[in-house]
Amino acid sequence: MKKVLKPFKFNTMQDAGDFKKAMDGAGLPFPVDENVDILGTPVKIGNKTVQNRMCIQPLEGFDGLPDGSPSELDFRRYKRYAGGGAGMIWYESIAISEDGRCNPLQMVIRPSTVDEIKRMVDEANAVAVEKYGRRPYNVLQLTHSGRRSNDKNWKSTPLAVCENPYMDDHTSIDGSSGKITIATDDKIEQIIRGFIDGAILAHQAGFDAVDIKICHEYILRELLSAFTRPGKFGGSFENRTRAVFMIIDGIREKLGDALDICVRLNAYDCVPYPYGWGMKKEEGVMEPDLTEPIKLCQMLVERDVRLINLSTMMPRYQPYGRGLMAEHEEGPEAEIDPYKGTFSLLDATRQIKEAVPGGVFVCTGLTWLEQFGGNVAAGGIKEGWFDIGGFGRQGFAYPEFARDLLYDKTMYRNKCCILCDKCYDLIQKGHCQTGCVMRDQAIYLKLYRENVMNKK
Ligand SMILES: Cc1cc2nc3c(=O)[nH]c(=O)nc-3n(C[C@H](O)[C@H](O)[C@H](O)COP(=O)(O)O)c2cc1C
Ligand code: SF4
Repeated sequence: MKKVLKPFKFNTMQDAGDFKKAMDGAGLPFPVDENVDILGTPVKIGNKTVQNRMCIQPLEGFDGLPDGSPSELDFRRYKRYAGGGAGMIWYESIAISEDGRCNPLQMVIRPSTVDEIKRMVDEANAVAVEKYGRRPYNVLQLTHSGRRSNDKNWKSTPLAVCENPYMDDHTSIDGSSGKITIATDDKIEQIIRGFIDGAILAHQAGFDAVDIKICHEYILRELLSAFTRPGKFGGSFENRTRAVFMIIDGIREKLGDALDICVRLNAYDCVPYPYGWGMKKEEGVMEPDLTEPIKLCQMLVERDVRLINLSTMMPRYQPYGRGLMAEHEEGPEAEIDPYKGTFSLLDATRQIKEAVPGGVFVCTGLTWLEQFGGNVAAGGIKEGWFDIGGFGRQGFAYPEFARDLLYDKTMYRNKCCILCDKCYDLIQKGHCQTGCVMRDQAIYLKLYRENVMNKK
């Protein structure tokens, strides 16, 4: 069993000063500010203004309807987010095609679902307008699940772009694997068209922006590391990034500037070269090298990509419930230190932002820092590590964290995510809808008891 190290006693820390001292002492000098006022300042994204510097990261609820439209739980989640006051909501990954779904209840964007997706966005916006007199900036994450695709019966149907000995034998969300199909160039071009069509529909649904998802274990991220793939989508940097730029150009051709384009991108993969992106080009060496990620971010900013949301890791290879930011593990008994991993990702974000002037960056991983996530968001923005603080699981657990930071200047520990991993167990072990089992018990504790503990 892997062990997640939690060496810090957040419950005994009185203030951000205590947190800073503990982290500095552990050799993790996070940027920290006691004063969180900077989180309430606006940021310009193209010709739009985002009212504050807090973003709710995409978290798939695995709770759409079988036809790919949103369910009542989706409507509920996004109304809770909008009512929580974050200036930016990064809607969860929605598949661009049936075969790109990662589970039978993932939402799919297509002509038959776009009206309901629009209604979900409109209703969430209305909640924010009523409470705050403004609506959030809404980004929709588009995806094709690639290796993590599953069919209607949760049977794994992995579509990869090249073989990868680090990942080939655990492709599905629950660790099982199906027979891998290697996508042909024609299939990749079909997926590229799917992203462009998805963006047109996202515009119809009223989103401000689409995220062309190039993170985690999904197909466009995999192309970035397709060093061993022959042909026009593999090998050189130009070939490995070709699909992303074809999508950007295709969206611009159809929509001009009407829809902002963003990416969620792995800063590095933590899978060694030649199977991982952003890694030192020495076989088997587990050390990030940001040269290519910086080059890609510079090119994206030159193409007017409005936001870059930096993440890392493969959820399956490094189970993200246990630490999307965890560092490499050596074998099943490995110990994972999420704080070291979170620091390393934020530090990579700092380095990339420094090398890419003009880019607007969202950071990942603040939930690990519990009630001090807001102080690190404020410190990171003030010290130039990133522009917007991204909170993932905190959105499930404590959707009004942004309002508390804006008005009360603090996050309340008794509302925070407790990092118990149960939202991940719901999908991984329970194959069912997910949300916060601990802080949103009315719905998710029941699902947990029924599907994970098998207590009907
Ligand atoms: C249940 C669950 C679903 C997730 N779904 C997505 C998703 O749809 N797209 C995505 O880019 N990341 C997804 N993530 C990753 C989160 O966005 C985030 O990067 C991760 O939880 C780490 O940030 P945190 O420490 O603030 O939670 C998901 C994470 C969890 C736990
Ligand atoms: S279930 Fe646990 S890990 Fe998930 S959001 Fe809730 S407290 Fe956090």
